[in-house]
Amino acid sequence: MKIDSDTSLFCLIGNPVSKSLSPLIHNISFEWNKINSTYLTFNVEDLEKSIDGIKALGIKGFNVTIPYKEKIMIYLDEIDKLAKDIGAVNTVKNIDGKLVGYNTDGLGFIKSLEERNINLNNKNVLILGAGGASRAIAMTLANEGIHKLHITNRTIKRAKNLVSDINNTYENLDVKFIEKNNIVDCYDIVINTTSIGMFPNIIDMPIDPSIFDDDTIIYDIIYKPRPTKFLKESKKQNKITIDGLDMLIHQALLSENIWLSENLDYFLMKNNIKKRIM
Ligand code: ATR
Repeated sequence: MKIDSDTSLFCLIGNPVSKSLSPLIHNISFEWNKINSTYLTFNVEDLEKSIDGIKALGIKGFNVTIPYKEKIMIYLDEIDKLAKDIGAVNTVKNIDGKLVGYNTDGLGFIKSLEERNINLNNKNVLILGAGGASRAIAMTLANEGIHKLHITNRTIKRAKNLVSDINNTYENLDVKFIEKNNIVDCYDIVINTTSIGMFPNIIDMPIDPSIFDDDTIIYDIIYKPRPTKFLKESKKQNKITIDGLDMLIHQALLSENIWLSENLDYFLMKNNIKKRIM
């Protein structure tokens, strides 16, 4: 894509940002969709000054990553309900100086299931972990007609806080904390949102998948490595497995939809991005 005086800039702010795949994904998408935009990363030390800079330069939209997904919220003029419920923002649109925050992480997860024709209605779901990614997925799932949501986590208080936040937002859903060593229920989907098994500690697993039925869908949101040991072991047991790359691509493309107010063709673009990432 040729950069000229009409090129719009989008970016990622965080610290560190050097390992992010977002520039690759967005720049491939801009090129593929013939959108005259480019995407850069900024390693940010001073969040407030960076936001002033974004406004001053008229940057049309940006993503937010660790450690600013929560901290950014006080600087925004408006926050979408789902992002508010999650308590974190990963996407900001700059509408003539008015900053509006969204969170596309959970919706990216849902899209990755939709494209596999996995219906969430009445499903029983177990989430491993209660950090930022878990919050985004759990809050989004809670609005998708699931039957039961159990959450397990090393730090019990964190999981209990998440359960109580979901209960306050979705009163009729069966949500509870469960001890990892006390899992007896059957689940349709088990989702690993912990960093256990992520590069470089690739020999670890968050839980032994053999405790789950063979028809349980095992989803690991980690995309490095792909697959994780957790998914490899699950596959040996003939379980359906899903890794984190589709969610990553979908959340990025959902951000673009927000920035550009366009319905980009996810499927074609996603396959194009996937080919170039691998
Ligand atoms: P993210 O934004 O990717 O979700 P995070 O908010 O730091 O990152 O959350 C990481 C998750 O992985 C948490 O659920 C964390 O458990 P704690 O809340 O107990 O910290 C979990 N996690 C990371 N390393 C872990 C380990 N070695 N054993 C168990 N859980 C771990």
